[in-house]
Amino acid sequence: MINITKTFLPPIEEYNHYLNRLWDNQWLTNRGELVKELEEKLKEHLSSSNIILTNNGTVPLQIALKLLANKGEIITTPFSYVATTAAIVWENCIPVFVDIHPEYLTIDENKIEEAITPNTTAILATHVFGNPCNVDAIDTIAKKHNLKVIYDAAHCFGVKYKGKSIFDFGDVSTCSFHATKLFHTAEGGAMFSPNEDLQKQLFYSHNFGHDGPLAFHGLGVNGKMSELQAAMGLAVLPYMEQITSERKKVVDFYNDNLNFRKVTSLKIRENTIWNYSYYPVIFESEEQLLHAQKKLNNEQIFPRRYFYPSLNTIEYTNGLSMPISESIASRILCLPLYDGLDAEKLNKIINCIN
Ligand SMILES: Cc1ncc(COP(=O)(O)O)c(C=O)c1O
Repeated sequence: MINITKTFLPPIEEYNHYLNRLWDNQWLTNRGELVKELEEKLKEHLSSSNIILTNNGTVPLQIALKLLANKGEIITTPFSYVATTAAIVWENCIPVFVDIHPEYLTIDENKIEEAITPNTTAILATHVFGNPCNVDAIDTIAKKHNLKVIYDAAHCFGVKYKGKSIFDFGDVSTCSFHATKLFHTAEGGAMFSPNEDLQKQLFYSHNFGHDGPLAFHGLGVNGKMSELQAAMGLAVLPYMEQITSERKKVVDFYNDNLNFRKVTSLKIRENTIWNYSYYPVIFESEEQLLHAQKKLNNEQIFPRRYFYPSLNTIEYTNGLSMPISESIASRILCLPLYDGLDAEKLNKIINCIN
C-alpha cells in the first residue's frame, strides 16, 4: 500500500535517549527541559528569532485570533485545511472569503481590498502547501487599513522567502507538527511573532495566562507542548536535511516523468526556498481526477484530495461563490510524497496518472 505520506520515525534508540532524560527528570509537561531545548534548536534551524511550541497547529490559530481579531470580520482563503476557517468561527469571528490565485493557490491579494469593511479586523491567509502568499502586498494592504495579519503556515517548516524565514512575516504565524507534516512531534505545533510584545502575549495565552505560579496576565488556554512530544521532535530534527533532500528527489522524479499535457503542478512563488511538503496535481476536470483516483486506489495507492471541498461551501460559512477555489478544489489531488518513496513505486503512480 502506498499512502499519501509516511511519517518519518527516527531510530528508536535515539528517541529512547530523550525518553530516558524525561524519566530521569520526572518531568512530563509545563515547559520542561526538552521543550526548551527543542525551541532553541528550532530557532537555530529555522533562522527565526522566536518560537513558542504548542500542542498542535490549531490552538495557536485560535490564540492569535483571540488576541488580534476582536470578534470581527476576518479576510481569509477558501482554499486551506478546514482548521483555518473553523478557528475563525470557533473564536466567534466571521470568515469573509476572498478567492485564490489560480496558479499559486494562495489568497488573491488583488481581491482583498474590495472585501474590507469597517468590521474587518484581520487577514488570516494560508501559505498553501508551503507556497508563500504575496506577503509584501498583504503587508501594504494591512498597514493601509490598520488590519492584523495572521499566517496559517502549517505547511511551512523550513520555507524561506526573500532570504528570511516565512515565519517572520505578518503579526503572527502558526505551524503544525502533526505526524503527517514534514517535521513532526506526533501532534504539535508552534507560533511565531516578530513583535516582542505580541510574542509575550502569545506566550502567556498558551499557558492559561500564567505569569509565574500565582499571578496571571490576561486570559489563557492550555496550548502547551508536552515533553513526550518534544522528545519526538528532538529525535526527528537531526534528520531534516536528509528528509528534505530525499523528498526533493521524489518531486524531481514527478516533475521529470509526469505527462503535463493534461495536468498541471503547483507554481512556487518567485524568491522562495520551498520545502517539498506536498505534490499536488490539478486535472482538467473532476471527472478526470475521479478516474485517476480510482485507478490509483485499484493499485493500492491512496493520494488525498487536499483541499476539498472549498471552505466557502461548508455548512457554517456564508456560502458565497468562490469560483476559482471551488474549481481548483474539485480538480486537485496530492500525490504520495515521502522520503524513501522509490522509483518503482513512483513509476506505478506516474503510469496511472499518465
Ligand atoms: C493549513 C492547515 N492549518 C491548520 C492545520 C491544523 O494543524 P493541527 O492538525 O496540528 O492542529 C492543518 C493540519 O493539517 C493544516 O493543514
